[in-house]
Amino acid sequence: KQSKTSQIRTPIVCVLGHVDHGKTSLLDTIRGSSVVDTEAGAITQHIGATIVPIEAIARGNSSLAKMQFNIPGLLFIDTPGHHAFTTLRARGGSLADLAIVVVDINEGFKPQTIEALQILRNYKTPFVIAANKVDRIHGWRVHENESFATTFAKQNERVQGMLETKVYELVGKLSDLGFNSERFDRVRDFARNVGIVPTSALTGEGISDVLMMLIGLAQRYMTDNLALSVEGPGAGTVLEVKEERGLGTTLDVILYDGTLSVGDEIVVAGHNQILTTKVRSLLKPRPMSEILIEDKFERVKSVAAATGIKVAAPKLEGVIAGTPLRVVRGENRDEVIEKVMSEI
Ligand code: GTP
Ligand code: MG
Repeated sequence: KQSKTSQIRTPIVCVLGHVDHGKTSLLDTIRGSSVVDTEAGAITQHIGATIVPIEAIARGNSSLAKMQFNIPGLLFIDTPGHHAFTTLRARGGSLADLAIVVVDINEGFKPQTIEALQILRNYKTPFVIAANKVDRIHGWRVHENESFATTFAKQNERVQGMLETKVYELVGKLSDLGFNSERFDRVRDFARNVGIVPTSALTGEGISDVLMMLIGLAQRYMTDNLALSVEGPGAGTVLEVKEERGLGTTLDVILYDGTLSVGDEIVVAGHNQILTTKVRSLLKPRPMSEILIEDKFERVKSVAAATGIKVAAPKLEGVIAGTPLRVVRGENRDEVIEKVMSEI
């Protein structure tokens, strides 16, 4: 099993949606920590990346624990819903293999939700809708961390009817936007229909269903794309350029293809110029932790896609967030430089 899983790269899952609809909280519940509390104004100011190993996803979830997986885990990218961050969301959307669109079920679709759906349509990215904050439906009885089916069966008829109505409002809006959708437990063909999962990031209800859906989508539709990507020269996107004490200027990178090692020559993009430099050190976020929390880094010699990684190297001062990073290995440098220029 081990040798098989090592062949397939980790799918990148982007979490998109309107401001305050619960993206960070949802991710928080998935990883079982509480990053949302540390955020100034609860706005996700930066893109955060979190790796959740498959064992951690399956643990404590009876239906998932029984399943066989061929993906090593999921790499989640959180994005801010604030209107000022359109480019960050577009960047996340372009990187994503899969996505979760979070919508407050009581508020319905808002501008950033619609924008997220457009991004996903442009990139043909499979996604699930998390119809979040079901615990706010009047009369909802909380059953912490239960699956949707279990908690829904325990609600009274009025609450069940209310939830159905709200789900169908979403189905209607999605139809206007050109997507066929259904409540997830009624979807027969996930290639044609988007699944809507009622969730509460606060109580954990429906979260296991979201994870199950993502794993299902990854296993069914992604394995061809993911199978060959853990070898060869690394390719990634620079999410952030940051000064770090003791390290100088560093890049927070999402590596979506190949490998990246200490000593590798890399090509990155600065203001009006292409830079080449050598990787001095690689700092990896530990599983279940945030790339943005420094003391949780582990120094590594090499990483394989997909992962979030902090890169320290000389000459990174002028690098621009949102631009590509590529490793020179095998191909000649000029070809790699040309590739990077074509991707800016
Ligand atoms: P931005 O990053 O600012 O775009 O917001 P976000 O989508 O990440 O939302 P966030 O997770 O910060 O949640 C916004 C607020 O909604 C917080 O006060 C959360 O506690 C609350 N919240 C999130 N999910 C739920 C939920 O399922 N139920 C309830 N009742 N509150 C929730
Ligand atoms: Mg957030």
